[in-house]
Amino acid sequence: EKSGFDHFMLKEIHEQPKAYRDTMRGRISDDSRKVVLPEIGMTHEQIKGINRVHIVACGTAYHAGLIGKTVIESLARIPVETDVASEYRYRNPIITPDTLVIVVSQSGETADTLAALREAKRCGARVLAITNVVGSSVAREADDVITTWAGPEIAVASTKAYTSQLVAFYLLGLYLAQTIGTRDEEFIAGVLGAMNELPEQVELILEQSEVLKKIAESMAKHSSLFFIGRGLDWGVAQEGSLKLKEISYIHSEAYAAGELKHGTLALIEEGTPVIALVTQEDLYEKTLSNIKEVTARGAYVLGVTNQNNQLEVGKSVDELFAIPNTLPLLTPALSVVPLQLISYYASLALGHDVDKPRNLAKSVTVE
Ligand code: M6R
Repeated sequence: EKSGFDHFMLKEIHEQPKAYRDTMRGRISDDSRKVVLPEIGMTHEQIKGINRVHIVACGTAYHAGLIGKTVIESLARIPVETDVASEYRYRNPIITPDTLVIVVSQSGETADTLAALREAKRCGARVLAITNVVGSSVAREADDVITTWAGPEIAVASTKAYTSQLVAFYLLGLYLAQTIGTRDEEFIAGVLGAMNELPEQVELILEQSEVLKKIAESMAKHSSLFFIGRGLDWGVAQEGSLKLKEISYIHSEAYAAGELKHGTLALIEEGTPVIALVTQEDLYEKTLSNIKEVTARGAYVLGVTNQNNQLEVGKSVDELFAIPNTLPLLTPALSVVPLQLISYYASLALGHDVDKPRNLAKSVTVE
């Protein structure tokens, strides 16, 4: 059932191109100029009336929600807040009938997420679920459901569910934008065209697994490491850090690159590994100067950037991993893949149970 792979996690990482295709299938018009989401029952008037969006989820699904915030805000220009589900319910959030609450859950059974969904409904909000399990509790109780077609995810560490959730957010963001009119058809066609290329671009990254394995093996010798990035890169950094902690048990932190100098920089010493994500054109110079802050303190930096910038970024880092070029907004769908592989190979190098890490369960049904 592992189809020749040593672990479910590795198999699921490799299934991502298929998961992308399956999650997009039938949701893009034949001429590739529009998003089609018949599963969303909201009328155009209801969509135009949304005045805020809350995204609520746990763990990796929460990290997908961090990217979802930027996607929806930039495409549809609606203010979005992303919350950890176990916090949401208790912070007395401002939920009105004009609030769209999006819950994200691979399993659709996470207790904290389900409780947040019920609280949102109690307050009169419309709830849209992004879930990977048809007929799950979350799917049954939400008003609208976008199913991610990632297929069963067995490994405790979530990989293809996360990337499929990103695809769902791109489709939803574009759908909101085309309905509200914040983006024209030409723009939407451009993004859809770039999305169609993602599966093959992921394949290209997977082909470089050996390089990532070597990087992971040297990182696994350290007891602590940092992920840094700005904007969307920071969101991906948080997912990379969780993945590493979860299966390799190596301590790591994800920091907004510009925030390091406000305290955490004190932890950087000779040899501390830092994975720096540098994919966002508009933030590029700023992140490079943050990289200089850590290299000046002796950090060993792996830069993850897109091919367009690799020559320039290569000058500032010790090691470089380049991902294929895509639109800045879509980059998380590629940049997370090397981080998944680094976690996998680090866990493997340390001899841990990759698919069943200690203290964790696949589905968390207690609050
Ligand atoms: O099934 P869910 O998406 O609701 O699960 C949420 C988290 O428990 C889950 O993403 C967890 O963080 C993963 N083990 C991370 O890899």
